[in-house]
Amino acid sequence: MMDWTDRHCRFFHRLMTRRAMLYTEMVTAPAVVHGPKDRLLGYSGAEHPVALQLGGSDPAELAAAVRLAVPFGYDEINLNVGCPSDRVQSGCFGAVLMERPALVADCVAAMRDASDVPVTVKCRIGVDDQNPEEVLPDFLERVSAAGVTHFVIHARKAWLQGLSPKENREVPPLDYDLVKRMKAAYPQLTICINGGVTSLAQVRDLLAAGLDGVMLGRAAYHDPGSVLIGADALWGDGDGLDAFGVVEAIKPYIAAHLEGGGRLHQITRHMLGLFHGRPGARGWRRVLSEGVAKPGAGLGLLDLALDEVSRAAA
Ligand SMILES: Cc1cc2nc3c(=O)[nH]c(=O)nc-3n(C[C@H](O)[C@H](O)[C@H](O)COP(=O)(O)O)c2cc1C
Repeated sequence: MMDWTDRHCRFFHRLMTRRAMLYTEMVTAPAVVHGPKDRLLGYSGAEHPVALQLGGSDPAELAAAVRLAVPFGYDEINLNVGCPSDRVQSGCFGAVLMERPALVADCVAAMRDASDVPVTVKCRIGVDDQNPEEVLPDFLERVSAAGVTHFVIHARKAWLQGLSPKENREVPPLDYDLVKRMKAAYPQLTICINGGVTSLAQVRDLLAAGLDGVMLGRAAYHDPGSVLIGADALWGDGDGLDAFGVVEAIKPYIAAHLEGGGRLHQITRHMLGLFHGRPGARGWRRVLSEGVAKPGAGLGLLDLALDEVSRAAA
């Protein structure tokens, strides 16, 4: 998620689930081609499985970005056809491409030709006054004809005129039923659903309804303790770390980051929601956010913040 997640966030999330695929925020193809590769594409091997999400609409440029990404060893490369922001529309990236399925097909064909890494697509059910019942099956058919078999569908339209990106994640109504019907109509495709999922119980229901996967965005960021810890049970995997164990497990990573000249805040900002909804959650957040700016703040701050949680639970 742009401006929210980064490699540190993924490392933190990986401590809670060994199985869930983690996605990078969208990185545009021009940025990859012209920008600093290590900064944009580098990550820790501990993050696997991890998918790189690219934004773009120029097949040759996307293919070039894929070739540059290959040495970084991503497990999947995903094309963004869902992002509604102005910046993205102006470059003809993201959700506006729902109106140009033939171009999306050309893009993914070029991306697939550029490497052996699986290429997937994240899309909406439509944009503006499109009729999702018509455009979504047409989109899936045309893009899958270009060889993509794995789709993540954000189950609401993007309204490209008049709504902010934030509103576009909240205002257009969710239509899970349509996404379920797409899975029934195209059983050979891997169809994952996204949008508005806030609990593992909901994930289980959607999987039981036949969907192949569920992508969580905001809940994974704000409440990872509820939706990432315990997620591996969906694959039949038990005994992961609890939230306290996660804090212990991230300490060596933070220590190495600080030793390399990084700042504590760059990692702890992703950890503020770890105890969301639990006694002491507020104290945890407060100690971390207030203490992080103080000179010399280091790993000890995590222990002080954990004390808040332990005290509240006692
Ligand atoms: C701050 C923010 C940044 C986002 N950036 C991206 C992005 O880079 N790529 C993407 O596919 N979706 C992005 N999204 C959308 C989410 O991936 C997701 O589709 C949306 O929030 C709905 O799912 P949710 O209800 O589980 O959050 C972003 C969402 C937020 C809140």
